Amino acid sequence: MKETGAPSLYDRLGGEAAVEAAVVLFYEKVVEDPTLTPFLSGLDLQAQIDKQIAFMTMVFGGPSQTSGRDLREAHAGLVARGLGDAHFDAFAAHLGATLRELGVDDATTGEVLAALEPTRRDVLSR
Ligand code: HEM
Repeated sequence: MKETGAPSLYDRLGGEAAVEAAVVLFYEKVVEDPTLTPFLSGLDLQAQIDKQIAFMTMVFGGPSQTSGRDLREAHAGLVARGLGDAHFDAFAAHLGATLRELGVDDATTGEVLAALEPTRRDVLSR
């Protein structure tokens, strides 16, 4: 049998529609978390959702090259205002809860969180 390569995490999550639905639901949780809202005042939520869809599509191996700003640069001002590990962890926990709610299995959810973990250094200016 010909080896066609393993499907990307993006494909296993269900592709474009699934990633979009996950990011929308994820942001509903983020904007309701009082530990995170102080960092989100004045944010254009729809623009942010679109950027996050593009970014996660890329991280999960889907068809997107990020056109956005560097993560370090995008979050530097937030770090100056106190953004830290607790916020990053809460952010990741909301994403994990979102994927479980959407019926993604634990192993795949773990892969998603592992794929995002390397961004911690940049998001938190380390
Ligand atoms: C896994 C962790 C995270 C990832 C992958 C991530 C990803 C991103 C991306 C892709 C952007 C858009 C950059 C651009 O302008 O092109 C962004 C911006 C932003 N993120 Fe995050 N983020 C993370 C954690 C957080 C956390 C914990 C917060 C705090 C609630 C946060 C708040 C923001 C805000 C406020 C902006 C907009 C900054 C601005 O436009 O001035 N992010 N993030």
